[in-house]
Amino acid sequence: MFTPVPPLRIGSFEPASPLLLAPIAGYCDLAYRLVVRSVPGYQGHATLGLACTDLLCPQALLRETDKSLWLAATCPEDSPVCMQLYGRHPDTLAQAALWAVEHGATTVDLNMGCPVDKVTKKNGGSKLLTEPCLAIEIVQTLARTLRPHTVPLTVKIRLGWDENSLVSSDLVPKLADSGISALIVHGRTTVQKFRGEVSHSGILRVVEAVKRHHPEVAVIGNGDVKSPYDARLMIDKTGCDGVMIGREALRRPWIFREANFYMSTGTLPPPLTRRARAQLVLDHFENVVRLRDERVALNTIRSRMSWYSAHIQPWPTLRRDVQKLRSANEFRDFWAAGVERYIEPEPVSAA
Ligand SMILES: Cc1cc2nc3c(=O)[nH]c(=O)nc-3n(C[C@H](O)[C@H](O)[C@H](O)COP(=O)(O)O)c2cc1C
Repeated sequence: MFTPVPPLRIGSFEPASPLLLAPIAGYCDLAYRLVVRSVPGYQGHATLGLACTDLLCPQALLRETDKSLWLAATCPEDSPVCMQLYGRHPDTLAQAALWAVEHGATTVDLNMGCPVDKVTKKNGGSKLLTEPCLAIEIVQTLARTLRPHTVPLTVKIRLGWDENSLVSSDLVPKLADSGISALIVHGRTTVQKFRGEVSHSGILRVVEAVKRHHPEVAVIGNGDVKSPYDARLMIDKTGCDGVMIGREALRRPWIFREANFYMSTGTLPPPLTRRARAQLVLDHFENVVRLRDERVALNTIRSRMSWYSAHIQPWPTLRRDVQKLRSANEFRDFWAAGVERYIEPEPVSAA
């Protein structure tokens, strides 16, 4: 028998759906998050529960560099939003967390999962998994800082640095004891990067370790969720409370509409029409023009077409043709002509 997924709770925050958009550096900026949020839910069901900024460098944030201000940019329509910080200096991270609160963060996340050398060589990201004392000091400092503001703290981890140093039995219970409201777990180790399969049993062990003494701390499962079924499977196999989706949302920003409807009803909504999908691509482009400029918008749409195009097809030579466009108006004309030529009109619904 089908049972709906219970509502997710992250401390004092109750997201409208148990689905989160992952931080993906270079991709999940404000322009893109607004696209994801613009997809309407089906029959009143919510789509996305929470979206996350890319990882933010605390020092750059506090200096308010142009780049970090763009990475942290948000607006009222981009709510609720999680701001993700990385680093290894508890006091600087605490100041950056306050900055995040003042600038609209619904939740603050500490990145303890990033495997990229640039981050781990500075001992941030998933390097913290190998330094439990420092990790706990940072988390306790952040939790203390955020508590008076009732902004929940979350931590995003991997299963461990490698197979021989999984964190479920030691670090995870300590994190759960340190004032976090949720733990987000990508079911791979750091050395795996993105290779191999996500381990549901590894995430299950994290869920068990958290829930043993802290049933109130939510666990969000993450990794390789490519469909509504995968999202449900993540919950059924691991007992986690919510699901974070990354790369598949770059291909189809409407996955949250389908997955949350499926989580609640066990059935799928009618697919978003190709016209509606194409409109989302155009909206993404226009968001970047409005929030950045024409040059950035063209670069963005050129690089994002490899993610979007599979769900817009058939549209011959789409990816190649987009590379040739030189101005916003050229893109707009190209898009309007292509939609007219290759995409069937919206069906007229009976009154
Ligand atoms: C290009 C790229 C950039 C990423 N950037 C971040 C990041 O800034 N912070 C973070 O916590 N995880 C980051 N991740 C990891 C994702 O949030 C997510 O954990 C991972 O992609 C697995 O989920 P998925 O299979 O749904 O994509 C990144 C992943 C990719 C592919």
